[in-house]
Amino acid sequence: MSVKANESASWFIGAQAENHQLFESLLLEYLRDHMYWRRNFHPDDPPSISAQSAYSPEHLEFIARMKDELNALSAALKSSIPLSSPRYMGHMLSDPLIPGLLAQMLALPYNPNNVSEEAAPVTIEMEVKVGLQLARMIGYNDDPSRSPCAFGYLTAGGTLSNYHALHVLRSIKYYPLALQTGMQHMNVQPPPDSILERIMESDPCALSNLSVAETIQAREAWLEFLEQAVPAPQRAKVDNAVNSGRIEKLGTHAFFTLHREHCSAPVILVPETAHYSWSKAVRLLGIGESGLVHIPTRAMRLDPDALEHSLVAAHKIKQPILAVVGVLGTTEYGTFDPIHELVEARDRWHKKGLGFAVHADAAWGGYLATLFRDADGSTLPHDKTRNGFKYFPSQHVYSAFRDLARTDSVTVDPHKLGYLPYGVGGAYVCRDHRCMDFIAADAPYLGRPVPEEDGESAYFRKFRRLGSYILEGSKPGSAAAAAYVTHRVLPLDKDHFGKLLSQSVQDAEHFYDRIQAMRDRVNDHVRVCIPIEPDSNLVCIAFNPVGNKSMAIANNFTETLFNHLRVDRSVPLQTRAFFSSSTMLYKRMLRSYDAGRVVDELGIAAYTFTERPEDLERDADGLLVLRHTLMNPWLRNNVSKIDYIEKYCLYLEQLLRQLVTTYTSAEQNSASVH
Ligand SMILES: Cc1ncc(COP(=O)(O)O)c(C=O)c1O
Repeated sequence: MSVKANESASWFIGAQAENHQLFESLLLEYLRDHMYWRRNFHPDDPPSISAQSAYSPEHLEFIARMKDELNALSAALKSSIPLSSPRYMGHMLSDPLIPGLLAQMLALPYNPNNVSEEAAPVTIEMEVKVGLQLARMIGYNDDPSRSPCAFGYLTAGGTLSNYHALHVLRSIKYYPLALQTGMQHMNVQPPPDSILERIMESDPCALSNLSVAETIQAREAWLEFLEQAVPAPQRAKVDNAVNSGRIEKLGTHAFFTLHREHCSAPVILVPETAHYSWSKAVRLLGIGESGLVHIPTRAMRLDPDALEHSLVAAHKIKQPILAVVGVLGTTEYGTFDPIHELVEARDRWHKKGLGFAVHADAAWGGYLATLFRDADGSTLPHDKTRNGFKYFPSQHVYSAFRDLARTDSVTVDPHKLGYLPYGVGGAYVCRDHRCMDFIAADAPYLGRPVPEEDGESAYFRKFRRLGSYILEGSKPGSAAAAAYVTHRVLPLDKDHFGKLLSQSVQDAEHFYDRIQAMRDRVNDHVRVCIPIEPDSNLVCIAFNPVGNKSMAIANNFTETLFNHLRVDRSVPLQTRAFFSSSTMLYKRMLRSYDAGRVVDELGIAAYTFTERPEDLERDADGLLVLRHTLMNPWLRNNVSKIDYIEKYCLYLEQLLRQLVTTYTSAEQNSASVH
């Protein structure tokens, strides 16, 4: 049995609450500190709650009701998923890191609202710094005194970050058209050889194909022109001629009606494996699901040849593309899209007149960028990133992370591989903070807008009115405190935070090897197959009893197996030995080669349901698989010397042997009946 030392294991409260005392003493200390802070703000003010009121019948009743409800809550919460246990290998859920949990709890009674500095003078700056910490992890410039500097902020979750990304990119994409129309309307004479002149004289069709950087440059040139060439009394009117023609002002219908001769509504290219938040985002933005084009994948990774095919077609019919989205860590299979190929395609097609942005949906895999980052912020060479791993990172995974810095924006979820508590949901990070200016919306109560200028202090001053730039309004400052403190305690590079994720990937490699060994042991009874080679720490497994050729029956078999491993409210959680999750491997997502390989390995006749039409309806040619997320820090416990991965494989083996007997006798019975 291989059991390794695991340094990051002690960064958590612990599966058996081993760090209980540390946690409790720190929590108590900061809770008391907060109470003193209250008392020491004008300590000579008289009390607002009289000691006597504590004995009033109403107050006593209030306390009694509160205790009853809290007791009930505490009891109900005992049925929660035991995320801290190494027996949980299901969804993308984990125990949170101590620094994040403590920082969040410490900040909660201060109740800061990160909508603006006036509601959260301390935590709002932390949120902007969290954005820069994540930017550095991604490889974007995080130094506000150098341009372009990135920007990032915390959202409720990856879903919202994806909405935000599309909102920003759409605003940028259609700005040049509004700029041209506005300038023409006002008879503006742009300076010769300037980008404004280029825009003024451009074929309108070309204007929705500028790069993000070009559009930012155009907007800056426009603001400079207004300042220098337009007399102050007319400035607002001239600027309004541009702003009133922007898509945000007109709405999509009026905008595309106005420009129908030279531009149509955009599409977004996403892989077949894209998270469903993309469908929700296009519905919300009025683009509609018909504007979401799914690109075929190869073994659940976006296929660059298929992408190229779609780009050629779009170019031919002058179809604007808002963005190509690559997923770094697909929700179902943990696979990584070739970000390097996406940014290369973006730069190549831009030269041919087809412009689009590249967004990386790294909600799941974003923090794995720490494994490629040296403490000085540089990208580690491939051979150094391999230290400590058996398989990770493959060349395509390395290239994808190396070129993450070349994307236009990224979604990353601190609540997933950032091991931060909910409240700290997702994050949106863009390479150039000026992207945010395109969607800024003012409200006088947030404070006065900051004049546009460069430099570190201007950068922080600008984002103190955070609510102006984001989809949400009020938002928890305690979440920003949690992320900021955690990233300070464990900087986002290989030698610090990366140790936790190294452990997770090593555990997944061990899991992969142990499953292969288990497969050989049960091969006479059940076929076991890992249908998609894992890219990092998520592993799916498919099963089929030997002799069965029907996919519907294989699915029923796996479902029965999963019934022993699932969270089921009718069964006490404590009776479960282990937890996994499940997902479907749809034929439409697999190339025929991959589908053929999977059914061959399982001994199934075809990747389809032939026997029972009702199954076809239910599963639509999908293979049910067990899905395992290996992110628990105690899977290989170096104190108790227990290898929970090995234990799980033995448990699975035992279940398989047991179920296959039932399956075989049921099959025999049904054969004799017919
Ligand atoms: C790739 C991907 N994108 C987006 C999301 C949405 O994130 P959230 O659940 O935080 O909204 C997920 C969630 O699993 C995801 O895996």
